[in-house]
Amino acid sequence: MFKKIVLISAAALLPSILFAEDKAALMKDMKAQEEAMASIQKGLLYGSKEGVAEGIKALKAANKVAALKDGLVNYLPAEKKALHKTALKEGELVNKNADEMLKKLEKGNYSEAFASYGKILNSCNTCHLIIRNWK
Ligand code: HEC
Repeated sequence: MFKKIVLISAAALLPSILFAEDKAALMKDMKAQEEAMASIQKGLLYGSKEGVAEGIKALKAANKVAALKDGLVNYLPAEKKALHKTALKEGELVNKNADEMLKKLEKGNYSEAFASYGKILNSCNTCHLIIRNWK
């Protein structure tokens, strides 16, 4: 009897443990994205194309949101779950605008490349606005 109860409660706990690990991984990736954005900005301000390119590579590597696809819904608070498609779209836009930024920079279209940086940051903030209750 006791064994059975232990087994059942362990099985019930499993998804939440897995979820907690996923959440920790997501937060680590978010921090890595923030650092990548900072190096892109540094590359821009110091006029280093290589710096920007490295930051973009790091940003895309850290952006796991797009890879989560429908799994993203698990990271949203209950009252925001309905917005998961919009949130996912913003995650995908981060990669799209990062690619565009690099292309524009390589072509020497600087003002367009700078605008792409703004678009990336806008996607970060738009998704956070969906998820958080800002004070
Ligand atoms: C699809 C939605 C989504 C997108 C797009 C997104 N984030 Fe996040 N971000 C989250 C979630 C979910 C959290 C965790 C919940 C919270 O902090 O309220 C988070 C948290 C964070 C945090 C706080 C981490 C902590 O330890 O408190 C940082 C920093 C962050 N994101 C950076 C970024 C950056 C930079 C970008 C854009 C390049 C970005 N995020 C794009 C969903 C997103």
